[in-house]
Amino acid sequence: MQNEPIPFDPARDPATLGASGALDGNVALYAQPRGPDLLRRGGALDAWVQLRARHGVWPYGRVLEGPPGPLASVAADGEAPARGINFASQDYLSLAAHPEVHEAARRALHDAGPHSAGSAVLLGTSRYARALEQALGELLGLDQLVLFPTGWAAAFGAITALVHAHDHVVIDALAHASLRQGAACATRNVLVHRHLDCDHVRELLARIRASDAVNAILVVTEGLFSMDADSPDLPLLQHLCREYGATLLVDVAHDLGALGPGGGGVVASQRMLGKADIVMGSFSKTFATNGGFVACAQPAARRRLQLYAGPHMFSNALSPMQAAVALASLRIAASNEGDGLRADLLRNAVELRALLGCSGLHCLGGPSPIVPVWTGSEAAARVAGMLLARDAVFVNPVEFPGVPLGAARLRLQLMAQHAPAQLRRGASLVANACNRAGAGRPTHRPGQERYRG
Ligand SMILES: Cc1ncc(COP(=O)(O)O)c(C=O)c1O
Repeated sequence: MQNEPIPFDPARDPATLGASGALDGNVALYAQPRGPDLLRRGGALDAWVQLRARHGVWPYGRVLEGPPGPLASVAADGEAPARGINFASQDYLSLAAHPEVHEAARRALHDAGPHSAGSAVLLGTSRYARALEQALGELLGLDQLVLFPTGWAAAFGAITALVHAHDHVVIDALAHASLRQGAACATRNVLVHRHLDCDHVRELLARIRASDAVNAILVVTEGLFSMDADSPDLPLLQHLCREYGATLLVDVAHDLGALGPGGGGVVASQRMLGKADIVMGSFSKTFATNGGFVACAQPAARRRLQLYAGPHMFSNALSPMQAAVALASLRIAASNEGDGLRADLLRNAVELRALLGCSGLHCLGGPSPIVPVWTGSEAAARVAGMLLARDAVFVNPVEFPGVPLGAARLRLQLMAQHAPAQLRRGASLVANACNRAGAGRPTHRPGQERYRG
């Protein structure tokens, strides 16, 4: 296995990093700079990022050379690329390397050219996009589909198109930024419920309905939480929605295709196919391309999404190639071959979690393509990420605003094609880095934090 450690740099010595200031601070501190000069008032933020970069603890914006495989070449800013084990890319079923997916891209490029040349409403819709809508509808048991240029656009577009200023949103405390920002943009009536806590959802719905019987309520959750690797009780949430005249939206960005019978995700494993009100997702985690979708059963809702979701109406549609790649990936994910790839992926998840657990680390959630390793402090996540990059093991250290303050972690993402030897070596180096960095164990039940700042 190729795995080339990077030479030692004294500026990156964990023993002296604390004194450098590079382990202090967080993005929340720089969120609201004051002053009239819009272009220069971010100077303090820039200086803080540069300080972190100098000491090797700014892990963002690195460059991936070549495809996002289990082994990859990664270059930090201004540095030569290093080749090593890659737990930082999203290609859960390893479909980005699949010959049928490549062939689909080649054919679409040849037949329809490289771009969509218009929004979905203005001749940007290709026959690949139509076939993709049909296939997604069959997989989800919902036949009203709207496609978006990204998953972010689908989440933001769905909420802002459907929810009015007088309506209400009840949203999980750890929902993705695209969902939280969509809710904040749609209405001031946003209530945040404790992560996965259906009793709290019931309490909030009852409170809203006690004073407002006429406006709509959207309950927003995820099939598999992207930083916590856990899932809500979808049948119960949908039941509560029915009871209180609310509508459920489930973001399945991380589970559709990668988990569940036939690749139907957590919606399928909880027997909710065709029963959840709105299912939205992204193609960028499992379906080897950018793009997103919103699915439901009501033509009236589809019409609203087409005409009032800004990123559908006013942004160029998925390119024919992107739609063809998503379609080819979806067909593989839904096939017997997909069952085999999901089994490989899940075996990898169980194995990696066991290896990390045996080393004394705390993995959040349950077996899935996402393996979040708790560090708690931002400083520990930064140092562990730096030590791992030095060993050419690529993970994503995640801190605010990706997760709440004080709930930092390393997020490892698995692929079906990670090999057992890569998992063993990766786990041993992750454990070593976390121990040296002083990664903590949670002092409270993880997931009970909220976003501040
Ligand atoms: C839960 C969730 N929803 C939506 C998105 C946005 O998807 P995309 O990155 O494909 O735009 C993400 C991306 O990470 C996500 O994790």
